Amino acid sequence: MADDLDMLRADIEAAMAGAEDLRALDAVRVAALGKSGQVTALLKGLGALPPDERRARGAEVNVLKGEIERALENRRVTLEAFALDARLAAERLDVSLPPRPTPPVGPEAGSIHPISRTMEELIALFGAMGFAVAEGPDIEGDWHNFSALNIPDHHPARQDHDTFYLTAPAGGRRPVLRTHTSPVQIRTMLSQEPPICVIVPGRTWRADHDATHSPMFHQVEGLVIGRDIHMGHLKGTLVDFLRAFFGIADLPVRFRSSYFPFTEPSMEVDIGWSRKTGELGSGGDWLEILGSGMVHPKVLANAGIDPRAWQGFAFGMGIERITMLKHGIPDLRPFYEADLRWLRHYATSPLSPFTLHDAS
Ligand code: DAH
Repeated sequence: MADDLDMLRADIEAAMAGAEDLRALDAVRVAALGKSGQVTALLKGLGALPPDERRARGAEVNVLKGEIERALENRRVTLEAFALDARLAAERLDVSLPPRPTPPVGPEAGSIHPISRTMEELIALFGAMGFAVAEGPDIEGDWHNFSALNIPDHHPARQDHDTFYLTAPAGGRRPVLRTHTSPVQIRTMLSQEPPICVIVPGRTWRADHDATHSPMFHQVEGLVIGRDIHMGHLKGTLVDFLRAFFGIADLPVRFRSSYFPFTEPSMEVDIGWSRKTGELGSGGDWLEILGSGMVHPKVLANAGIDPRAWQGFAFGMGIERITMLKHGIPDLRPFYEADLRWLRHYATSPLSPFTLHDAS
């Protein structure tokens, strides 16, 4: 090939190699093969040559043109691949990133409220003993909240100063904000065939407000119904639970006879502590923790269960109370005040869920 064509090809190839994107490459194409491109000019110039020379030169210029076209095409494919790679790298989304090892701090960081935390612990600990979770409504009928539980009309729990009453429907009794979780005992027995083994964590209401009482608070109820359930089951379950919940393997637990309309016999359960230091587990004093007993035969019958074939035990305790004791929280009111300083101190990270390994 003539020297001038070789040089032109070398120039164009250098320009192509220097083109770093498709637009630059197109500029090289136009400069070589466009209407006033260098190769186009050579083709146009052929007409001015004598016929012999024209044929030989024409063949050479056409070979050059073909070579340039192929080289342009190769470079275009390469640049397109580069562009795709660059886009893939820029738009890469690494879904395998691990979560941050420490949770965010500050007002935007969420945390688990101590009440929710205790509920999780209750569900885990009783769950390990075979209890399921049952629920009922906050607005209850008088029958579920009182009558079915063998609480007679004259019982003090019915007096206005304890109970929030709602407006009565025409001809009916006033609905109440449930004063305890015990009505869910009735609902569970009416809706499930025995044997039954449930806990009922939930919100409860009483018209009472001071450092240790709130108009809205939480309880957990327990109900176990079976053919041969006896007081040994009640005691074993509650001793195991209290020792696991408070994390004290030899926590003293005392069962003291008491009275509840819906149990017979009834017992209050105390744990050992020191009145002076507030420390749980030692100190020689007793602290009342919960109420319990064998489900009264009338309550079983009210809920459609034959008391001659089935029996069981029940218990109920305040969730705020056991939370305050476990964590040394002196006042009930900040539980509901959404004070971030209090929450940061007593709330738990959502990244440290309660497991049975936490209970010694
Ligand atoms: N419902 C009772 C209360 O609110 C607590 C209670 C006591 C529940 C004894 C029970 C029980 O299931 O057996 O004071």
